[in-house]
Amino acid sequence: MISFDGRVAIVTGGAQGIGAAIAKGLGKHGATVVIADINGDGGAEVAASIGNGAFAIETDVGDLDQIAKLHSEVIERAGKIDILINNAAIIPPQLTWEEIDHAEWQRLMRVNLDAVFFMCQTSAKHMRERGYGRIVNICSNTVIWGTPGLAHYVAAKGGVLALTRALATELGPYDITINSVSPGMTASEGILNSDWVEFFDFVEPTQAFKGRGTPEDIAPSVLFLASENARWVTGSMLNTDGGAARW
Ligand SMILES: NC(=O)c1ccc[n+]([C@@H]2O[C@H](COP(=O)([O-])OP(=O)(O)OC[C@H]3O[C@@H](n4cnc5c(N)ncnc54)[C@H](O)[C@@H]3O)[C@@H](O)[C@H]2O)c1
Repeated sequence: MISFDGRVAIVTGGAQGIGAAIAKGLGKHGATVVIADINGDGGAEVAASIGNGAFAIETDVGDLDQIAKLHSEVIERAGKIDILINNAAIIPPQLTWEEIDHAEWQRLMRVNLDAVFFMCQTSAKHMRERGYGRIVNICSNTVIWGTPGLAHYVAAKGGVLALTRALATELGPYDITINSVSPGMTASEGILNSDWVEFFDFVEPTQAFKGRGTPEDIAPSVLFLASENARWVTGSMLNTDGGAARW
């Protein structure tokens, strides 16, 4: 039985999609959830639906000042940070790798990789003081596929995977675990409203299971890694893609 009673959890990008499903799951099992999303109204709506003291702080996680402000506000309002879920990311439109210019590369890296590093660094400072922490970074099974049409996204997620491994070594001595979860194509708002939606036709036949993965299919793996039950798991990647990508 999973319980997050008394735990405080930050979920980035929790206003919709996979992040919202994770936030709701954490709240349902007792956590005080803080939604940090650039979409402040969407975050507030999800927080209201969770109850249990959940609140939202409008945050662009790609901005270091906003990361600092987010953390001081969470400490002020909730007293501590036990769990960090780095879920926010830009899902870019399909682009050949020759079409990705420097501005597009930087736009994506700022949110999909830089933000993960600096969110970990800032949250871990508070976690270290208390000798407890659970960090889960949302990666992607595109790091295994090498999916065409989003080379910068795949590179950023590869960075998230490697960063997770590196920080497992750094944070282990403080009883802080850090792991990643790699969804496959999942029917989130971000995907359903993008040109990636047509990609389901390609991905579904590659899966071991039939049908489209949903945000609710991803959240339980994240909850496990964020729980006390995962005490002996760190630096790992859990593939949550219906058995599509094979190492
Ligand atoms: N849906 C998929 O098929 C899929 C597959 C593999 C990995 N993922 C990963 O799962 C995670 C969630 O994806 P999703 O499909 O739910 O996406 P989504 O687009 O539905 O939701 C992303 C959320 O992140 C927020 N966000 C974007 N930029 C932000 C910023 N700068 N600061 C704060 N919040 C920001 C958005 O407002 C939105 O609420 C992402 O890390 C994504 O890369 C998704």
